[in-house]
Amino acid sequence: MIATVTMNPAVDYTVSLEEPLMKATVNRTDHERITAGGKGVNVSLILQQLDVPTTVYGYLSGTTGAMIAEQLQRTQIPTDWIEVPNQMNRINLKIRENNTVTELNGRGVSVTEQDTELLLQKLRRCGDGDYIVLAGSIPAGAPATHYADVMAALEDTGVRFAVDAAGAPLREALRCKPFVIKPNLPELCALFDSEIDTWWDALPYGKKLQEMGAENVLLSLGGDGALLFTAENRVWHLSAPHGEVKNAVGAGDSMLGGFLAAVVQGKPLTEALRMGVAAGSATAFSEWIANRSRMDNLLRTLPEPTELV
Ligand SMILES: Nc1ncnc2c1ncn2[C@@H]1O[C@H](COP(=O)(O)OP(=O)(O)OP(=O)(O)O)[C@@H](O)[C@H]1O
Ligand SMILES: [Mg+2]
Repeated sequence: MIATVTMNPAVDYTVSLEEPLMKATVNRTDHERITAGGKGVNVSLILQQLDVPTTVYGYLSGTTGAMIAEQLQRTQIPTDWIEVPNQMNRINLKIRENNTVTELNGRGVSVTEQDTELLLQKLRRCGDGDYIVLAGSIPAGAPATHYADVMAALEDTGVRFAVDAAGAPLREALRCKPFVIKPNLPELCALFDSEIDTWWDALPYGKKLQEMGAENVLLSLGGDGALLFTAENRVWHLSAPHGEVKNAVGAGDSMLGGFLAAVVQGKPLTEALRMGVAAGSATAFSEWIANRSRMDNLLRTLPEPTELV
């Protein structure tokens, strides 16, 4: 089973503009779409399509929380939400113009120690052979050690962790030896406060992340595919397929979903990398999170990853 935790579920309000976005004036949208979820939810959407059992965990509050619960119900993915009173889940605005997306993300729901304890109680049902995905931002006001604290509290369960986070929460989480982390290039630059222009330059940093505690590092490179640094000290690259990009938001989450699906199905990590790239690119070529047939079609076209020595 793969449990995904979205500490900060959101309603995503994605608008498309035909004219460039202007500050300090009224802009009109050409098209709007409202979707509910967050990074962990996106991972679960991919897992469900790949027939991998998954449950969504996270905090919900207010009318936006009710919207998120209702949308998830329609997907039929099992959920085990924690209701937080008197707040509201955030609305994240994504503005699409030509080839760019500008994002304006809210702060989200803040949680108490009791809420965290409730989440830990629920996650204690996971054990050996299970995975917990910690994806996205930590709750508003929580310490940077939040993910690390959750991981440490569940250490004795034997569960393995996948972390898709940025900045200090990611750095702290590394201490608890996650099975896999999935940074992208900008997140890598921010973490090491360095300019890393090409994936070739990123190679030493992938290794550093392993020295800091990550067992495997899946470094996503957008249109350049991905690098995988494995626990056996091997490094693999796989280019992304070409196609018309419709909406790359959630491509990284999809990649993590595809990767973990292969892992729980007992496939080798090079195959997990192929499934990750197929799922990520399938989402980039879709209006929203990819469907199964698009992932399968892309997977058939992907070569074996290349080993870098
Ligand atoms: N322009 C693109 N063309 C083809 N594939 C893409 C493109 N952008 C993303 N992908 C696919 O999706 C994967 C993950 O993308 P990316 O590196 O953009 O993740 P990310 O920045 O974490 O995204 P997000 O956080 O929005 O989910 C890539 O490794 C690649 O397989
Ligand atoms: Mg990402």
